[in-house]
Amino acid sequence: MLTRTFTDRTITPPPRRSRARRALVFGTAGLLASAGVTALAGTAAAASTLGAAAAEKGRYFGTAVAANHLGEAAYASTLNTEFNSVTPENEMKWDAVEPSRNSFSYGSADQIVSHAQSRGMKVRGHTLVWHSQLPGWVGGLGASDLRTAMNNHITQVMTHYKGKIHSWDVVNEAFQDGSSGARRSSPFQDKLGNGFIEEAFRTARTADPAAKLCYNDYNTDGVNAKSNAVYNLVKDFKARGVPIDCVGFQSHFNSASPVPGDYRANLQRFADLGVDVQITELDIEGSGTAQANSYTNVVNACLGVSRCTGITVWGVTDKYSWRASGTPLLFDGNYAKKAAYTAVLTALGGSGGGGGGGGDAACTVTYSRTNDWSDRFNGQVTVTAGSAAITGWTTTVTVTSPQKISTNWNGTPSWDSSGNVMTMKPNGNGSLAAGASTSFGFTVMKNGNSSAPAIGSCSAS
Ligand code: XIL
Repeated sequence: MLTRTFTDRTITPPPRRSRARRALVFGTAGLLASAGVTALAGTAAAASTLGAAAAEKGRYFGTAVAANHLGEAAYASTLNTEFNSVTPENEMKWDAVEPSRNSFSYGSADQIVSHAQSRGMKVRGHTLVWHSQLPGWVGGLGASDLRTAMNNHITQVMTHYKGKIHSWDVVNEAFQDGSSGARRSSPFQDKLGNGFIEEAFRTARTADPAAKLCYNDYNTDGVNAKSNAVYNLVKDFKARGVPIDCVGFQSHFNSASPVPGDYRANLQRFADLGVDVQITELDIEGSGTAQANSYTNVVNACLGVSRCTGITVWGVTDKYSWRASGTPLLFDGNYAKKAAYTAVLTALGGSGGGGGGGGDAACTVTYSRTNDWSDRFNGQVTVTAGSAAITGWTTTVTVTSPQKISTNWNGTPSWDSSGNVMTMKPNGNGSLAAGASTSFGFTVMKNGNSSAPAIGSCSAS
């Protein structure tokens, strides 16, 4: 029951250069620089994280974040390593920031914003006007009071975060599903009428003129009646000078609602109206190659549209997904990279395994809990060489404080300053034939926390 195995994890390290070759490259760059010539970026190794790979394509790669997980070491390290944009998953919604009228509470949202800002990550604001996660008092207001309350909410929240949010979902999910193209019933729609969206966007522009203002929705990813309705709204806004800068496509997919074949074309037709497009809440239920291929299609669609400025996945790890049973994200419940991760990194041009160098040294890791007691457990990591023989390997085991690794066997460890991250290398000879495996083990003292360690990527030489 406590055993978890990562079977879908394949990491291919970036192409290696000998020390002499590296020195030559840097030396050449120095010469070129002093001659006023910039060295070509193409000589650099491919990016090895989602954020860095997206940045090389002029885009961000973000994730939804929940403030209450930021204290979990593996959650925070995955977030900090891989992503360069965050969206608070719930913390900026109306019920969180204005639970009662004119009484604002920003604690959890501020935590996410400062975490992001101190690490140079962008922040998407989500969301100002939405029928859901709306406190009851809003629905109880009459029209004139509701208008005042809506504008006040937008102004207060955007002013609080002024200058810190790159894009705001000003209005979320205002249209119905299905073929009607009609507006969804909500306190705003029902009491203020069609004009509430325009009013919200005008108020938002005044509150923070530097923020990009987005309309965000789901089931609008392909060309259909609902996306046509949003398209007509944006077209009308553009024609009349109503401020709008971007359209968010939530992109929650599963077998009943797969990635549409005309996804790219749909993004492009919105971009052609003169707005940016963003993929704002991406998750795709499934597993293995099928899931990975769907992710590839999404990334390629965004890369195919110059105004597609970034992609946000709706969570870091499957275990905290709002649709956890559908395992829709890029990292599994133990923060191991899934096939979907490698597919995304590869599609972004990173070093996820698409670099062409077939036969390169590579290895994968699997983890299992081999023994469990009340105060401690034993973990085992199995390292398996890829399709080529390797001469060495290294991986990391990260435990969550106050857990401590008390002993280890069958490897040579080194430690980071916190003592939470153990980097493991082979004992002596690290050679493995193609497809061959070896294992190392360790004991984790729980100190009250029984969660599984995060196993880092496996690099082979
Ligand atoms: C979801 C969150 O992920 C859940 O934690 C919460 O319980 C409900 O909302 N569309 C949106 C998001 O715009 O805000 C929703 O997020 C998912 C659907």
